[in-house]
Amino acid sequence: MTHAVSPAREAAATPAGPSLYGGKSNRRVTIRDLALAKERGEKWPMLTAYDAMTASVFDQSGIPVILVGDSMGNCHLGYETTVPVTMDEMTMLSAAVVRGTRRALVVGDLPFGSYQEGAVQGLRSATRLVKEAGVGAVKLEGGERSLRQTELIVQAGIPVMSHLGLTPQSVNAMGYRVQGRSDEDAHRLLRDAKAAQDAGAFAVVLELVPAELAAEVTRSLHIPTVGIGAGADCDAQVLVWTDMMGLTEGKLPKFVKQYADLRKTMGDAARAFAEDVAGGSFPQEEHAFH
Ligand code: KIV
Repeated sequence: MTHAVSPAREAAATPAGPSLYGGKSNRRVTIRDLALAKERGEKWPMLTAYDAMTASVFDQSGIPVILVGDSMGNCHLGYETTVPVTMDEMTMLSAAVVRGTRRALVVGDLPFGSYQEGAVQGLRSATRLVKEAGVGAVKLEGGERSLRQTELIVQAGIPVMSHLGLTPQSVNAMGYRVQGRSDEDAHRLLRDAKAAQDAGAFAVVLELVPAELAAEVTRSLHIPTVGIGAGADCDAQVLVWTDMMGLTEGKLPKFVKQYADLRKTMGDAARAFAEDVAGGSFPQEEHAFH
């Protein structure tokens, strides 16, 4: 993916817009920009991406933060869960996303097994994603249980986004269900969020958390919360791009809003191509070389 974009094309591709959404394209969004957005009360969007081309579309559409989520396992690599995703896969696809973007802060997920052994393993994995893929930040699951990892990675100068509520890497232990419904679970989630903040995390993803609890966590923290299935009061919202574009097969979770129907668009185009080839109407003279 080339970065040699002419100024005119760049201006045309960068929508005018308030601060974080849209905004300037002459430098990458930083975690300081996100902290200032929280102070202003500005909400912002985050999307996942797993390749350079998709990332470039989101970058040029003004999406300020792109997550190379380990959802790549289910959405891109054909695994059933995020659990099998490896550091090699995460590094290769994160590097592609970084190459496809100029402005967005790219956050790379630390996959399952790349930080659970302890803080040093976590730091090693985070360092690899920064050095080899060029991400601006990493994300890891867990509050208190990942505290030492968060502290050490942050101390090394790598921004950390924490992920609480439903943590898909623990699917075998917790299943896929809304978290924090009981008083005890809600208190634990609040404690986890504060612990992540105290350890130096710059933001906290809240996945599948009751809206009222997510609102309380958002009010209690000075760092931004990024909701997915966590109601409207989070500071930011994230969706998995294949879900919100209608590429994912089957029933979507309740919290997803589908903004496009790419599965149908692409299927229609593939069938039209196949019929043209079978019927001899493609290629035409204008597609040929002489
Ligand atoms: O991997 C991912 O895409 C995520 C989001 C759901 C937050 O962690």
